[in-house]
Amino acid sequence: MTKGKLIAIEGIDGAGKSTIIKKLIELLNFHGYTAVCHQEPGTTEMGLALRQLIKSDIPRSKLTETLMFEASRADTSELVLSHELEQYDYVIMDRYIDSTIAYQGYGNQNSIKTISVLNDIAIGENKPYMRILIDVDMETAYGRRNKREQTIDSKDKFDYDYEFAKRVYDGYQILVANGELISVPNTNINETLQQLLYLICDK
Ligand code: TYD
Repeated sequence: MTKGKLIAIEGIDGAGKSTIIKKLIELLNFHGYTAVCHQEPGTTEMGLALRQLIKSDIPRSKLTETLMFEASRADTSELVLSHELEQYDYVIMDRYIDSTIAYQGYGNQNSIKTISVLNDIAIGENKPYMRILIDVDMETAYGRRNKREQTIDSKDKFDYDYEFAKRVYDGYQILVANGELISVPNTNINETLQQLLYLICDK
């Protein structure tokens, strides 16, 4: 029997997701909950291999790229989430289905309908309990990203195309407007964490 809740945390590049998720896990532990976090793509061995391919310069069609993200997700869902949702109170996903809608759908202008179908196939029964957008404006995110050390892995080819980044940003806002994602502004980290805790476990 599943006891855990799957929480998906989303955001544009530079939204501050990773720092927030790390602190959120500490706070959940402090309140007595067990919690674990995974990053997409890259949770499983296959996911990591796919991540390297995705981040490489090897040419690929738009659909191929979408399917690579979905393949990584299917691997995570079947090999990790099914098991961990029985063990932990909370499994936090650093990016999940809405990333593919925002980046490959709105960003890369693939069919949102097709991606939704692929998302459903990839996650199977592991549907999120809550989908949250760490909401920052593009200028704030851009400033944060520039401060980051640019390792090969942190360099996203997506990062440098303003038009693409704007479509992704707008895509996330559409998902919020549709009531699919809950927006949590990241203006002050403590307030953001308080709001997340309240949403996730009523603390
Ligand atoms: P990553 O270094 O993990 O960035 P972040 O810390 O912002 O999550 O790189 C993941 C990149 O892959 C990021 O630019 C978003 C993109 N991505 C997609 O385009 N589609 C997806 O389905 C997922 C999960 C990520």
